[in-house]
Amino acid sequence: MSKAGALDLAAGVGGKIDKSEVLSAVEKYEKYHVFYGGEEEERKSNYSDMVNKYYDLVTSFYEFGWGESFHFAHRWNGESLRESIKRHEHFLALQLGLKPGQKVLDVGCGIGGPLREIARFSSTSVTGLNNNEYQIARGKELNRTTGVDKTCDFVKADFMKMPFPDNSFDAIYAIEATCHAPNAYGCYKEIYRVLKPGQCFAAYEWCMTDSFDPNNQEHQKIKAEVEIGDGLPDIRSTGKCLEALKQAGFEVIWEKDLAVDSPLPWYLPLDPSRLSLSSFRLTSVGRFFTRNMVKALEFVGLAPRGSQRVQGFLEKAAEGLLAGGKKEIFTPMYFFLVRKPLSDNQ
Ligand SMILES: C[S@@+](CC[C@H](N)C(=O)[O-])C[C@H]1O[C@@H](n2cnc3c(N)ncnc32)[C@H](O)[C@@H]1O
Repeated sequence: MSKAGALDLAAGVGGKIDKSEVLSAVEKYEKYHVFYGGEEEERKSNYSDMVNKYYDLVTSFYEFGWGESFHFAHRWNGESLRESIKRHEHFLALQLGLKPGQKVLDVGCGIGGPLREIARFSSTSVTGLNNNEYQIARGKELNRTTGVDKTCDFVKADFMKMPFPDNSFDAIYAIEATCHAPNAYGCYKEIYRVLKPGQCFAAYEWCMTDSFDPNNQEHQKIKAEVEIGDGLPDIRSTGKCLEALKQAGFEVIWEKDLAVDSPLPWYLPLDPSRLSLSSFRLTSVGRFFTRNMVKALEFVGLAPRGSQRVQGFLEKAAEGLLAGGKKEIFTPMYFFLVRKPLSDNQ
């Protein structure tokens, strides 16, 4: 069962980090970022430490607010947030043309919400690749509860150096995960290597759009807020991602920023003017309650010291994402479907 209670949140802060070391992990994590004097090169060369600290610190907050799938979604009028999240996952399965029995890889799988949904939707065996031990432990528990553990598994490894032989998978997808890579080319090239020839890779990538102006200080501030709030070394442009895919050897079938024609904006759950009972914890009133609850839990010692600081950088993330979405300088759903040619000379 999903751990979505206040005490689960408190107990989970820090993930695999010793509870007495949560505050110092928060301080170390923050120092990687611009607001605390951190630099891009340092974030890139220490990406593994930076990203793992981030997910150890935030996973229980994510589960409390989002449930089992940690991503945004294209959304129609009349669709609930949960429905749109599932449809966003089904869309990938459909684009990849998944067939029963196929062997699929989920790159950067979180606690496996999309993995369980896609595996059940398409009758495939999905392997979740993730570098965070705490998330894998949660994912295994949830797979057992749902019975998906018979056909799906998790592998703890870095997506920049995957422990799989060449040409292993029938299809590969990634949802809002490869943005954590220190360089897109290195990550896409690994995906290319483990994908069978003639087969497809589809993803939702976090990107700065063409409206982003690197010389605009407000744009830079928004980008830095998203980076600190979401554990990212440097958010790439859509153009850079596309270039890296081609450089890795992929043939591009189609690509599009799905945020452009989403009838309801993806950032709606974070908009302070919105009230929703079904996703109350994500609204600004819900976040106000969470903030005070975490403060109280930390005060009485049920949540480790540093928990409020984690809530603090997650608030920064929400502000940056909302501003980036409204200004259309950032998207969490640059979609692409690409194929590995049958032979390298094709
Ligand atoms: C925003 S979460 C998305 C999780 C999942 N795709 C979902 O939608 O629920 C990003 C995920 O990427 C994983 N990740 C980040 N860097 C990684 C790396 N170098 N190797 C493997 N996984 C990584 C994180 O641990 C986290 O699970």
